[in-house]
Amino acid sequence: MFTLETAATAAYVVAALLFILALAGLSRHETSRAGNTFGIVGMVVALVATIALALARHIEPLGLALLVGAMTIGAAIGLWRAKIVEMTGMPELIALLHSFVGLAAVLVGWNGYLHVEGDPGSAEALQLGSEGMLGIHSAEVVIGVFIGAVTFTGSIVANLKLSARIKSAPLMLPGKNILNVGALVVFIALTVWFVIDPQLWLLVVVTVLALALGWHLVASIGGGDMPVVVSMLNSYSGWAAAAAGFLLGNDLLIVTGALVGSSGAYLSYIMCKAMNRSFISVIAGGFGIEAGPAEDKDYGEHREITAEGAAELLASASSVIITPGYGMAVAQAQYGVADLTRKLRDRGVDVRFGIHPVAGRLPGHMNVLLAEAKVPYDIVLEMDEINDDFDGTSVVLVIGANDTVNPAASEDPGSPIAGMPVLTVWNADNVIVFKRSMASGYAGVQNPLFFRENTQMLFGDAKDRVDAINAALSVAEHV
Ligand code: TAP
Repeated sequence: MFTLETAATAAYVVAALLFILALAGLSRHETSRAGNTFGIVGMVVALVATIALALARHIEPLGLALLVGAMTIGAAIGLWRAKIVEMTGMPELIALLHSFVGLAAVLVGWNGYLHVEGDPGSAEALQLGSEGMLGIHSAEVVIGVFIGAVTFTGSIVANLKLSARIKSAPLMLPGKNILNVGALVVFIALTVWFVIDPQLWLLVVVTVLALALGWHLVASIGGGDMPVVVSMLNSYSGWAAAAAGFLLGNDLLIVTGALVGSSGAYLSYIMCKAMNRSFISVIAGGFGIEAGPAEDKDYGEHREITAEGAAELLASASSVIITPGYGMAVAQAQYGVADLTRKLRDRGVDVRFGIHPVAGRLPGHMNVLLAEAKVPYDIVLEMDEINDDFDGTSVVLVIGANDTVNPAASEDPGSPIAGMPVLTVWNADNVIVFKRSMASGYAGVQNPLFFRENTQMLFGDAKDRVDAINAALSVAEHV
């Protein structure tokens, strides 16, 4: 018979399919808009179906008002935040959203405990008890709370690091690996105990332990590895949602959580490969990475160049490679950079872009900015495609990039970013670095590139400096 309940269940299946289509669409630049639309429609279907299901199960008026009220307030806040967020602020917003998923899983777990194990006389507890399912319920509670709490505090630390409210350098507590492994062993032991004898204090200990572990895991990871941490927390938030889905008996939450969990894990794996990092080391809070000696190296003197000097150098160049980074996004210099590219190409200079996989603060950050400024796709190359071409290039313009062009990654085994593949800009004849000061990049590591003989620093806001070069080139054209 067709009831509201069966309609809602069917809508859940439709929503799950739409989420799968969303993921497929988001995996390619050209189809990403369609993917986003599938995701939005899927979420609307899921929310409407949730209300329908609640009505079918005769929800009390107060419950319905709370449900609709929470959805409305949440949607309003979400729309407002999405409207005002800057592109450079996206990763920290995503980290914050992951923390909500984690917190929700903790609350669902606690709610499950209070209604069943904490209230043995309740109808739910009696039913589960008579079916011999109580142990499974207790396992779902404790595992859901654990994953949720790790995700919650881990995401908060990621948010604080990404928004520069705490230092991005890794926290190096003595014996940090033992602390992490020890916490996992204690969690397994407490889970077994809780399943046998679900006492309140055990759940309290697991919650506190997981909150501390989440904090420590992410605090122990250095700035250079944050891209992997964000996708890893994305994965954790998926597993937290799936755990909540088991507790609530909600199939859509299980399917969606599993989709997010596995795609996030796969993205973390791809990013680890791109950055030459061990997947296990990163998910285990920098397992195996020990603190290097404090950096007090004297790299010597740096040289400076003016915008006019840079314009002259560019005017006489035959080939130019531009390697943008986070600073280009902060300065919003992409339009000036596109203008400069046009000017140089009109003069017959071969101009190309070299994009590092983690330049900026989110995957594809630089590609999006350059596309926005209408830089032709075919001259925007990935790191692997261009890295052999720096040798023999007349001028490289490093515009607001730092960690992604740091030679220490390949030359100094003691560096915190050792092993990370970087753009080998220093092999070019001339390198001009656009930045405002000699400050280090996101990973907090000094960059020996700035002190090389073929490097000159062009200090100031990247947009102002690029505009000044454009002006100098225009003047030269009219003389
Ligand atoms: P960063 O190492 O972050 O360095 C950016 C540089 O831009 C800074 O040294 C800064 O120097 C300069 N800058 C800032 N504002 C500027 C402005 N208005 N004008 C000119 N320069 C400005 O950049 P990167 O090379 O793109 O590396 C990205 C880093 O972020 C990596 O460590 C990466 O692991 C991490 N990360 C990436 C992602 C993803 S997925 N892309 C996510 C999270 C973290 P001054 O202050 O001296 O100007």
